Amino acid sequence: MTKYIGILTAGGDTPGLNAAIRGLGKAAQHTYGMEVIGFRDGFRGLMENRTVRLDGETLSGILTMGGTILGTSRDKPHKMPIGNKTLDMTDVMLTNYRKHHLDALICLGGNGTQSNALKLMEKGMNIITLPKTIDNDVAETDMTFGFDTAVGIATEAIDRLHSTAHSHHRIIVVEVMGHSAGWLALSAGVAGGADVILIPELPYNLQQVAEAILDRRRKGKHFSIVAVAEGAMSQEEAAVLRPLQAALSQTHGKAERQHIKNQLADWEKQHKGHVLRLAQQLEALTRLEARVTILGHVQRGGTPSAVDRILATQLGTACAELVHQGQFGVMVAIHGQQSVPVPLPLVAGKLKLVPTDHPLLESARRLGTAMGE
Ligand code: F6P
Repeated sequence: MTKYIGILTAGGDTPGLNAAIRGLGKAAQHTYGMEVIGFRDGFRGLMENRTVRLDGETLSGILTMGGTILGTSRDKPHKMPIGNKTLDMTDVMLTNYRKHHLDALICLGGNGTQSNALKLMEKGMNIITLPKTIDNDVAETDMTFGFDTAVGIATEAIDRLHSTAHSHHRIIVVEVMGHSAGWLALSAGVAGGADVILIPELPYNLQQVAEAILDRRRKGKHFSIVAVAEGAMSQEEAAVLRPLQAALSQTHGKAERQHIKNQLADWEKQHKGHVLRLAQQLEALTRLEARVTILGHVQRGGTPSAVDRILATQLGTACAELVHQGQFGVMVAIHGQQSVPVPLPLVAGKLKLVPTDHPLLESARRLGTAMGE
């Protein structure tokens, strides 16, 4: 009997999404004779039943394209903004899933998507997810697709910033994406030879960062590149944030949780623009001129790297095989060279942060790169 599968892409777009859609769609059709449809704009398209048939023609020529041909959104199935309300629309999604006689729904996404997909699984849908995000912070997989491309883009930016920082004898503070994880800043910082790398997992001491820059100057190096993860924070900021995060994880009452969430939102608000403040502080402490470059969405745009195309293709085609076998409720992870199904409950709600003894951190420390510790 022909099997029917639906695909959606959710959360921030990522290079390699189209390669994954293509790998999954082609394998599903050519190898297993399945029918494939896509839902537009993430979970919203599933709710609104906006579909596109993913036949041979639609899947052709998309391997090298950035973004997602399906469109994406950050809408959550159980907290969907409808007019001025936020509603649980998972039942409507289940109705549409059944309307299309789907045997499986494949959700391509990052951390948020893993949790959202779990909610649909609990509603009774056959779910498989694929891990994508430039942040590389999805648990239980060695790597997410999109990350390698973003590392390449951020590294090239750091390379280019070197010559201008050197010529003007300046500090350049470059902000790298990554949400609350430091994978992207650490990897691009090491690959680009940044002099200082600041990541959220290691809250920094401002004086130490300034001292590292002054030390370089004493050694005749009158410029410094400071690679800062967007989630990086000073030790003072961490002293406010960490207890709030701990309190949230231990609190169950609705009102108390809301109170902590409001405090966290205030912290976020104050943290916004922290690289601008950091540059000013370093300027004052070192008396060197400082400039700021925020790489932003450039890191997510354009054609995927070969590594991301390969990873996305491997995970996408493995996913088709899992549908064929009838193995659901899993995320297709990469462990070494192997694609491995990992139970979704082990992934959802977890963050993969940089361990403070990670080998790449050790390398950076041995190089003499300042981490602000
Ligand atoms: O999760 C990917 C990511 O690019 C993060 O690195 C960043 O914090 C966030 O998305 C930006 O989100 P948006 O595209 O919604 O502004």
